[in-house]
Amino acid sequence: MMGFADLRFFIWVLLILSLAKGLYAVDRYYINCGSSSDVIVGNITYVSDRSASRFITTSQDILADSNLNSITPSEDSQVFRTARIFNGPSRYTFPITQSGRHWIRLHFFPFIYQNYNMSSASFSVFSDRTTLLSDFSPQNATVKEYSVNITNGDLLITFSPSTNSFAYVNAIEVVSVPDTLITDDASLYNPSGVYSGLVNQALETVVRVNMGGPLVSLVNDTLGRTWISDSSFLIQPNLATTISNIPAVRYPEGGANPETAPQTVYGTCRKMNSASDPSSNFNVTWGFPVDQGFRYLIRLHFCDIVSTSAYQLLFNVYIGSSFVSQDLDLSTRFQGHLATAYFMDFVTPSVSASNITVSVGPSPRSSYSDAFLNGLEIMKMNNSEGRLAGASILPTFPGSKLNVGMIVGVSVGAAVALLMVFLIIFLVHRRRRIERLNSKTWIPISVTMGSKYSTTGTNISVGSNMSYRIPFLAVQEATNNFDENGVIGVGGFGKVYKGELSDGTKVAVKRGNPRSQQGLAEFRTEIEMLSQFRHRHLVSLIGYCDEKNEMILVYEYMVNGTLKGHLYGSNPRSLSWKERLEICIGSARGLHYLHTGYAKAVIHRDVKSANILVDENFMAKVADFGLSKTGPEIDQTHVSTAVKGSFGYLDPEYFRRQQLTEKSDVYSFGVVLFEVLCARPVIDPSLPREMVNLAEWAMKWQKKGQLDQIIDPSLVGKIKPDSLRKYGETAEKCLAEYGVDRPSMGDVLWNLEYALQLQEAVVDNDPEENSTNVIGELSPQVGEFNNGETSPSMARFETSSVDDLSGVSMSRVFSQLIKSEGR
Ligand SMILES: *[C@@H]1O[C@H](CO)[C@@H](O)[C@H](O)[C@H]1NC(C)=O
Ligand SMILES: *[C@@H]1O[C@H](CO)[C@@H](O)[C@H](O)[C@H]1NC(C)=O
Ligand SMILES: *[C@@H]1O[C@H](CO)[C@@H](O)[C@H](O)[C@H]1NC(C)=O
Ligand SMILES: *[C@@H]1O[C@H](CO)[C@@H](O)[C@H](O)[C@H]1NC(C)=O
Ligand SMILES: *[C@@H]1O[C@H](CO)[C@@H](O)[C@H](O)[C@H]1NC(C)=O
Ligand SMILES: *[C@@H]1O[C@H](CO)[C@@H](O)[C@H](O)[C@H]1NC(C)=O
Ligand SMILES: *[C@@H]1O[C@H](CO)[C@@H](O)[C@H](O)[C@H]1NC(C)=O
Ligand SMILES: *[C@@H]1O[C@H](CO)[C@@H](O)[C@H](O)[C@H]1NC(C)=O
Repeated sequence: MMGFADLRFFIWVLLILSLAKGLYAVDRYYINCGSSSDVIVGNITYVSDRSASRFITTSQDILADSNLNSITPSEDSQVFRTARIFNGPSRYTFPITQSGRHWIRLHFFPFIYQNYNMSSASFSVFSDRTTLLSDFSPQNATVKEYSVNITNGDLLITFSPSTNSFAYVNAIEVVSVPDTLITDDASLYNPSGVYSGLVNQALETVVRVNMGGPLVSLVNDTLGRTWISDSSFLIQPNLATTISNIPAVRYPEGGANPETAPQTVYGTCRKMNSASDPSSNFNVTWGFPVDQGFRYLIRLHFCDIVSTSAYQLLFNVYIGSSFVSQDLDLSTRFQGHLATAYFMDFVTPSVSASNITVSVGPSPRSSYSDAFLNGLEIMKMNNSEGRLAGASILPTFPGSKLNVGMIVGVSVGAAVALLMVFLIIFLVHRRRRIERLNSKTWIPISVTMGSKYSTTGTNISVGSNMSYRIPFLAVQEATNNFDENGVIGVGGFGKVYKGELSDGTKVAVKRGNPRSQQGLAEFRTEIEMLSQFRHRHLVSLIGYCDEKNEMILVYEYMVNGTLKGHLYGSNPRSLSWKERLEICIGSARGLHYLHTGYAKAVIHRDVKSANILVDENFMAKVADFGLSKTGPEIDQTHVSTAVKGSFGYLDPEYFRRQQLTEKSDVYSFGVVLFEVLCARPVIDPSLPREMVNLAEWAMKWQKKGQLDQIIDPSLVGKIKPDSLRKYGETAEKCLAEYGVDRPSMGDVLWNLEYALQLQEAVVDNDPEENSTNVIGELSPQVGEFNNGETSPSMARFETSSVDDLSGVSMSRVFSQLIKSEGR
């Protein structure tokens, strides 16, 4: 059935497939245009477009051969020796087996063939409906690279000569781009925000640069890209120097990978030439010519091969004159690991100059003056008319001239597609494992924090939330110049003061130690989170102050301190069961809102009784967002680089697999539920071994159905058994070994409401009258572990070491809010 030509085509497709390096690119077309023979460049075979002629629709075959080896430019490419000339609209049609983003690379090199002087050619090129080139007239060896998302089966590349001219092309490549390489979102700066919709963008690579390193040619890049040296873009080359440590480069889980940029790019950088003066203050700046009137996607690649130890080097990054990252400390992003690949994406506003400058410079917060950049890509984005260039109009194409060979080719292509199904399934499966990048929703809050203090006057209106920045003077005033008598909490990070703003609002002022560089990231996260989320069960941020290197957060004041304080801390007021249930319900609402109230789930990561505050009405509010993370899209798991949280509350599955989901918060909340019931620290090393860990201990009694044996003595006789059963079951489910088996925060909320109803139905406010329904006997164990408030020595132990284990964030920063016990 299969004719010879078809068979040849089939073999040709298999040949192309078998030549594929790695197995990532499904569609790989390398065409040596105008040639009757294949050429091999590195590991890539460019197939003669005589044998690929079924892809071409053109009025006349004109195959141009320079016939002169000497004309071959010094560049790698032998593909420049031949070209196909089009003297009317002509088209290549490439069947696409894997929809998604594809690179289109067009190679041009002008030479003279018969009476075609290619230097005088002028033409436009279209990919489907996107204008790639308009009245283009290449004067020397040129490779143009585009990437477009192809969703409808075929990719059409149309060449259209300008009036009275002709078109030509020397080589064409069409190659699948890994799906993870360009995701939908990038950061906006000035003002900061998120740009969504990159998937629909056609992109043109303007430059792809290996800072401080050599040319990385298509042979050395697993995806066939070329990275050029940055020397020619440096504005003051004498201010910069280079460093190289390629073997040191490591790729993080779920972040940049070797496809983002090869090790040779991350392992070299251009940095400040500040060796002679550790306090030097200048920028290293690069300038890149661009076309005006377009927006650009800028990808910055970093890998700290400069620092000798973590948390020392902070620097600033600018695009044009705008901050895109202030006080960037790469080591904080990888929990102290250096030499880890990292990238950031930014979308510029429409560019009005003829160049884009990118600068890195020192930060005054750094231990020493330095700044560096490892790689950079600038990609032009199509404008609103779908154009990457000029104003050319796609010609009405003579579609009827499709030749038979092409139709056969396409249908055989379909058969091949079937054969490739297994391959694709394999690839898709493989790619899914490469998680979407953490950094894509990164919002450079530093942009707003970076501008100089400009607020006039010291009157802060709490109602106006346009800007959360509060002048230092106002904070000083509010706290009576940080009066020690106003200290309501002290932590590893700094002190918390009670204060009052000039309009009478009572506030809690958390003042970070200015030297705590690690705290900076959490300072920002907290501002970012709290300025986005407003909910009656989340503590409100009133403002912040970053003047004079300060890191100050100003919150609404919560009269009644932490939940922990009421359970077994210094706060004398003991809570009734109903109050405890209402506090649990309130905090569950706050967490439920975080998980679901926003397009992307937010994971708190540090749920514990010390982070649940109560106001004058004993209404609960969740606090301390320094560790929160914006999760990926719903239902996707989150791969994180380091486990954070507090001992005793930490989800064991997260600890084992480092995979962060909302269910990790559910686990921690389950521990809080037991804490509320038993009123003891979650970790108490002074107790017998099997009792040290509250979660284990309580689960043991819950599984035996005897939870009543270990409850807070002040609750004995006051909880209705049904309410306790429901409550115990809910806590038990929260502590399920695997996240998938745990309920959502919404389910937890519902169950707690139900436990409250069960309590109120019979017991109401006077449990003594229903003594037959309530828990009677108290086991002898209770007295043994039920906190040390009666014993001074035990109380001291709690404040010094137990607390350190059970209540404090591992990061030990920003974990205290107000009325933290005994610190
Ligand atoms: C190129 O092919 C050679 C063998 O011919 C192989 O060793 C090398 O790894 C290949 N390079 C790439 C980048 O695939
Ligand atoms: C080819 O065209 C270029 C640009 O139009 C011109 O400078 C050059 O002289 C031409 N060469 C010949 C041999 O006509
Ligand atoms: C190549 O031609 C372009 C114009 O088409 C010109 O701007 C560029 O400087 C030329 N490059 C070289 C190396 O001659
Ligand atoms: C391509 O576009 C489609 C539809 O807009 C989108 O669903 C898909 O994610 C995009 N693929 C890539 C790799 O951007
Ligand atoms: C490119 O690869 C070749 C061989 O694969 C190697 O000899 C060369 O050093 C590599 N160049 C760079 C810049 O990595
Ligand atoms: C670095 O460049 C930025 C942006 O142009 C500028 O605001 C800053 O003052 C420069 N820093 C130094 C030390 O020149
Ligand atoms: C960038 O373009 C502007 C005007 O368009 C010019 O003043 C400036 O010198 C250029 N800078 C560089 C580095 O080329
Ligand atoms: C680029 O073109 C797409 C449609 O092809 C359009 O949705 C998008 O908005 C365009 N981009 C810009 C920046 O206008």
